[in-house]
Amino acid sequence: MKKLLSLFIVICSVSFTASAQDPMGPPPVGQPQMKQTPDIFIPVSTRNTDLVFRVNGRDGRLYQAYFGPKLVNSDNLKQMRDAGHLAYATFGTDNLFEPAIRATHNDGNPSLDLKYVSHHFETIGTNVILNRILLKDPEYPFEVTLNIKTFADEDVIEQWVEIKHNEKKPLTIFNYASSMLHFDAGRYWLTQFHGDWAEEMKIQESELTAGIKILDSKLGTRAHMYQTPVFLLSLNGRSDENSGEVLAGTLGWSGNFRFLFEVDEKGSLRVISGINPFASEYTIEPGRVFKTPSMILTYSTSGRGQASRNLHRWAIKYGVLDGTGTRLTLLNNWEATGFNFDEKKLSEILDETKKMGLDLFLLDDGWFANKYPRNNDRAGLGDWQENKAKLPDGLGYLVREADKKGVKFGIWIEPEMVNPKSELYENHPDWILKLPNRPEHYFRNQLVLDLSNPKVQEFVFNVVDEMLTKNPGIAFIKWDCNRMMTNTYSVYLKDKQSHIYIDYVNSLYNVLDRLRKKYPALPIMLCSGGGGRVDYGALRYFTEFWASDNTDALERIYIQWGYSYFFPAISVCNHITSWGRQSLKFRTDVAMMGKMGYDIRVNEMTENELKFSQNAIANYKRLSDVIWQGDLYRLASPYEENRAVLMYVNSTKTKAVLFGYTLNARYGETFNRVRLQGLDPGRTYKIQEINTATEGRRGMGMSESGRSYTGDYLMKVGLSVGSASPLTSTVYEISE
Ligand code: DGJ
Repeated sequence: MKKLLSLFIVICSVSFTASAQDPMGPPPVGQPQMKQTPDIFIPVSTRNTDLVFRVNGRDGRLYQAYFGPKLVNSDNLKQMRDAGHLAYATFGTDNLFEPAIRATHNDGNPSLDLKYVSHHFETIGTNVILNRILLKDPEYPFEVTLNIKTFADEDVIEQWVEIKHNEKKPLTIFNYASSMLHFDAGRYWLTQFHGDWAEEMKIQESELTAGIKILDSKLGTRAHMYQTPVFLLSLNGRSDENSGEVLAGTLGWSGNFRFLFEVDEKGSLRVISGINPFASEYTIEPGRVFKTPSMILTYSTSGRGQASRNLHRWAIKYGVLDGTGTRLTLLNNWEATGFNFDEKKLSEILDETKKMGLDLFLLDDGWFANKYPRNNDRAGLGDWQENKAKLPDGLGYLVREADKKGVKFGIWIEPEMVNPKSELYENHPDWILKLPNRPEHYFRNQLVLDLSNPKVQEFVFNVVDEMLTKNPGIAFIKWDCNRMMTNTYSVYLKDKQSHIYIDYVNSLYNVLDRLRKKYPALPIMLCSGGGGRVDYGALRYFTEFWASDNTDALERIYIQWGYSYFFPAISVCNHITSWGRQSLKFRTDVAMMGKMGYDIRVNEMTENELKFSQNAIANYKRLSDVIWQGDLYRLASPYEENRAVLMYVNSTKTKAVLFGYTLNARYGETFNRVRLQGLDPGRTYKIQEINTATEGRRGMGMSESGRSYTGDYLMKVGLSVGSASPLTSTVYEISE
């Protein structure tokens, strides 16, 4: 009897599950029959992509009916019996898989149901449309607005969500995704980009299997040190540069992120992206709006190359501050001097900046603090006064010296951090994130300031503002952030400790908003102990980012290759240093494929090296618009061959630059010709090798320099690129 009863319970729960899953089936047991209203279709499109939502007339909920390549006639979707997958699945009612949102109401009810209310779109420009879809809980004053911004020409979609309630008391949300997308492909391959200090953006691909795979960060600040908030998702089969269906995604958020991929029992995939909800339940006051960061997505049916170009084109116009502008070439002193410098040495380096033909000298760490001088990384952080022993005449003197020598002056800061050995630590212990009853935990001998506290925000703003007001000649800032959060406790947040990860990032954005209002055009490099904080949330405020402290040119090829999938060359700072054992030419050619700079003692160069560098800088300045704003084609991958080849082509297809690097050369190894891309088949192009140097040219293989070919020939037959000598390189300027 007992057995029969339990069998009956199982059968009931299975039939309930089946009906709850099928939006077109009968209403779930125990729920009243709803009046059927006609379905509403909401298409959201870019030039080559359709994302179609469907409001199911039976249950009033919003479903994703389609996401993929553009449909000739999306009306055909109306004939589909199946409404699709819930567009923003909730927790607590009948959803059986990972929810996009979870909240507990004032009365303790832990469930949410979201029904469609209305939608409208706003045209923001000829290319940009913002679609807003309002959903509400039928039983509680709780609403969610899905925002989908489309960038038609670039084929990019930005998604975020606004959450609001009007319950009597504050209400807690536990999950709050920016984007939820569904796919019904045969198989799925996920490519992730992970690493550590000095080994950023390592590429790894794996096939998704049933269940959940998560890519995330829990580091708070320096949030992307181990995992960058980006992914590629190949659908149906693996994708390569020129073929395959691929979704590229990245979250614009400088803190903890989470991408969750769940393959269900039917092989459907849901991708939920947003802030990492880990240890971050958030209380929303009645009437206040909780806005999630933007998930940035592009869908390509012709491989990863197109996905990257879509993102680059978008980023240049909308994602990176002044992406369509120019950048300063610079000489940095971190690798060259470390903390060990004085006015005399810096004055020499200013001369070296000029001698090289560079625009700016960037003074790095070590210029500040007096009671606890910043002579190493154990002291001084937080005390932003010029160190009197090293800079007796202050920053003003250096700015004036730079001006006299005909170069600009830039400076390093790390205003979010503090050394325990500092006056800031002594004077404001309550401004620091640290647990009251546990030993302090250091990373690079430092702690994180509590930016959620408005007084700390004011302090950070003032550090920068006072420096710039006192020294209006400062033309560049490098903004560093050298540790993650551990043992975190905010005196300011009191009983809302789980807000810290989110409030920290929003407070940082508040400070940056204020600074950008006052200094809209000042170039600022985003740095986080190398590439520990690289995302489009921050890049709205920054003109460029420091990709890695690893400047070994061989390692750099892989690191820059990784970034190139998501970030345009204009934003990726590459410096020529003494790391690595490669020739100066190889190091220079590698740095040139992004935003080139130097961090080396120029006076220690030979006459030949100096001449080579001056010439390379002039070449770079002549070609930088092609590299910065052109279309990138990755032609031979260092992950697949002993060489790497890529090229940039300008929008009018009159100019291109090709970079070829031989990484290793096995005995008897020959490299195939490389077929170029992005040129006009009907035009004739002249190939000119640049950055030629006697040094490092041994065994370089035949140069194509001086020859002319049609675009057709170059794209069908190609050029010889690669040599018999490891660690050699070739740069071709290709002109119509
Ligand atoms: C970490 C950065 O990545 C380096 O380039 C340098 O600025 C140091 N910090 C200075 O402390």
